[in-house]
Amino acid sequence: MAVKVGFIGTGGISRPHRKHLKNMDDVEVVAMCDLEKDRVAEAAEEWNAVVYTDYKTMLENEEMDALYVCIPPFAHEDQEIMAAEKGIALFVEKPVSVTMEKAREVDAAIRKNNVVSCVGFQGRYLDIIAQTKDLLKDRPVGLAMGYWMGGMPQVPWWRRKEMSGGQAIEQTIHVTDTARYLFGDVKSVYAAGRTGLMTDVPDYNIEDSSAATLVFENGLATTIFSACFLSGGRGRGGIDIFTKDMNIEYRERRSITIIQNGNSELVEVQNDFWQDMDNDFIDAVRKGDDSSLKTTYADAVKTQEVVMAVNRSIETGEVVQISDM
Ligand SMILES: NC(=O)c1ccc[n+]([C@@H]2O[C@H](COP(=O)([O-])OP(=O)(O)OC[C@H]3O[C@@H](n4cnc5c(N)ncnc54)[C@H](O)[C@@H]3O)[C@@H](O)[C@H]2O)c1
Repeated sequence: MAVKVGFIGTGGISRPHRKHLKNMDDVEVVAMCDLEKDRVAEAAEEWNAVVYTDYKTMLENEEMDALYVCIPPFAHEDQEIMAAEKGIALFVEKPVSVTMEKAREVDAAIRKNNVVSCVGFQGRYLDIIAQTKDLLKDRPVGLAMGYWMGGMPQVPWWRRKEMSGGQAIEQTIHVTDTARYLFGDVKSVYAAGRTGLMTDVPDYNIEDSSAATLVFENGLATTIFSACFLSGGRGRGGIDIFTKDMNIEYRERRSITIIQNGNSELVEVQNDFWQDMDNDFIDAVRKGDDSSLKTTYADAVKTQEVVMAVNRSIETGEVVQISDM
């Protein structure tokens, strides 16, 4: 039997997911919702899916096995909770919210209704991240530096902190999540940031840049740099990892360079990691079991705590304990 899928949000990130679902056998997108009628109508055409502009009406009217929630961070209301209560599996795009309250409410609904969940941290599906994890199995990490430094995405909600959360939450969260995947849970955060450089961008209130020092439960200290003000130079994304006998330079979704004893080996990504993540999610939906997924909502809540702590530390100037989030 075909797995029946719905979408809430048919903008930028919904496109790769829709393409991946097309590549699978026995998957049918049955209903789609977006506030923008023309956008959702166009997206629904290739599936002949039913079109909605109100998610509540869609979830009341339609039967589906899984729902992709591909909306901006501020827009998460009761979409996931309504779906979980109907027993619908959830794929939620990162970041799952701009408040911990909403993230926890959704997490509780997912647990209570025991539905499959997945969050869009596709970095966990990279073959080079699997290799890095393997290389670090018996190598304690002495130091690491992470980066997501680039320009400002042009979607209108991105420049407002109350809508996107700002760079640490909206984009650098990928690096933070990969760091958690590789190094374990975070204990505390201290961060500082600046704003005011982007004089050509009207009406923005997010940081241009920030540096966040994360202390992990295993004692490792890592600094993660964020920047969204770059327009002419070269950005940087990834993590530089230092162990006693080996450095690993991860370049976001592209490659790792393994440096040891004066030798340097470049390993480029070989797998279609986004497709792999969507395949894994749909498999989990078929089985009704998400225990083999590399990223679940419950785990994404822990990454969310860290990036929310970065923002709180920038605002207060204080060290933030993750247990206080
Ligand atoms: N995993 C990744 O690498 C990745 C990449 C890009 C974006 N994203 C994430 O995906 C999310 C969406 O980003 P995007 O680039 O697609 O944004 P977008 O602005 O292109 O699209 C969002 C869509 O959601 C719709 N929408 C908003 N509120 C809605 C509601 N209540 N009901 C129905 N539709 C609603 C908007 O009308 C819009 O069409 C963001 O959280 C972003 O961080 C993830």
